[in-house]
Amino acid sequence: MINHQNISYLFDFLKKDKNLGNISLKITSKGIKKVKNNLKSDIVIKNNSIIFNVKIDSILRQSCEILLPIIQKKDRNFIGQIGQSLDAKIALNNGNSHYINEKESITYLHCLRSISDGILVGVNTIIKDNPLLTTRKIKGQNPIRLVIDPSLKLTNKYKIFKDKNTNIVFTNSNKKKNLNNTTIVKLPKNNFTLGIYKFLKKSSLKYILIEGGPTTLSYFIELKLINYLQFIISPTLIGSGIDSVKLKPITNLNKAIRRPSNFAKLGKEIVATLDFNS
Ligand SMILES: NC(=O)c1ccc[n+]([C@@H]2O[C@H](COP(=O)([O-])OP(=O)(O)OC[C@H]3O[C@@H](n4cnc5c(N)ncnc54)[C@H](OP(=O)(O)O)[C@@H]3O)[C@@H](O)[C@H]2O)c1
Repeated sequence: MINHQNISYLFDFLKKDKNLGNISLKITSKGIKKVKNNLKSDIVIKNNSIIFNVKIDSILRQSCEILLPIIQKKDRNFIGQIGQSLDAKIALNNGNSHYINEKESITYLHCLRSISDGILVGVNTIIKDNPLLTTRKIKGQNPIRLVIDPSLKLTNKYKIFKDKNTNIVFTNSNKKKNLNNTTIVKLPKNNFTLGIYKFLKKSSLKYILIEGGPTTLSYFIELKLINYLQFIISPTLIGSGIDSVKLKPITNLNKAIRRPSNFAKLGKEIVATLDFNS
């Protein structure tokens, strides 16, 4: 059986295995291994799709199906994601954002976090939500937290500075600050986003999840510094509020971003993925 306790074995295997053709896998108490005999396998990966011969919760199955093409791409990946309503709102005008998406989608988000080596957010997300940014819903590895804080406003009162996981804070500021479990990386204000991107590209972190908010995500989309952009869409109409992306206005629809796309069901919600690779 694949469950919240052992799903990360599968993700770890898929991330590490360099040769993902048609393969058959068996779950053991220590992890996942390749097997020769297809009949005895628990999981089969064939023609870029994943088949489970064991019991698996439907959200976890759908999560694996959505994540497989991303994991199969062995290059470095910058994945943008945002949870939103059908009319592309992430919060009300008064800031209330809890909760637009269903709790099943949080499980998916934690799967996405568990395949990521780093999870990037803007400083407002830390200040407004005080998130932990961990993979609590499944037993998986926690990514290193990456925060963009140009003027170094953050203090040790936020949760990310109170556990044992590590953080990198990107700043332009000369302030001297001691943030717990944190490396502060000072980069020039000019081309700051590109500087962060180059820093991460040179680092050992291979999968970077850009989790928001809209300002942070939009900087990366505008400069085309992402490989995939995922919208987790709740079938909810909010009508007014804060938009999930805010790009510079365009004057002609031929300038709209049109990329190869994939739409997948995730419980009652939909995950729309735009592929920026080609
Ligand atoms: N629905 C979701 O999936 C989701 C995910 C995450 C967050 N959120 C929501 O998003 C809201 C916050 O979003 P937000 O757009 O206001 O803020 P944000 O993206 O969290 O943070 C934006 C701030 O970070 C700094 N920043 C980030 N990227 C930068 C860059 N490339 N260059 C320069 N500065 C950069 C700037 O700080 P300075 O202003 O100090 O210059 C900027 O104002 C929260 O309410 C949170 O609940 C939703």
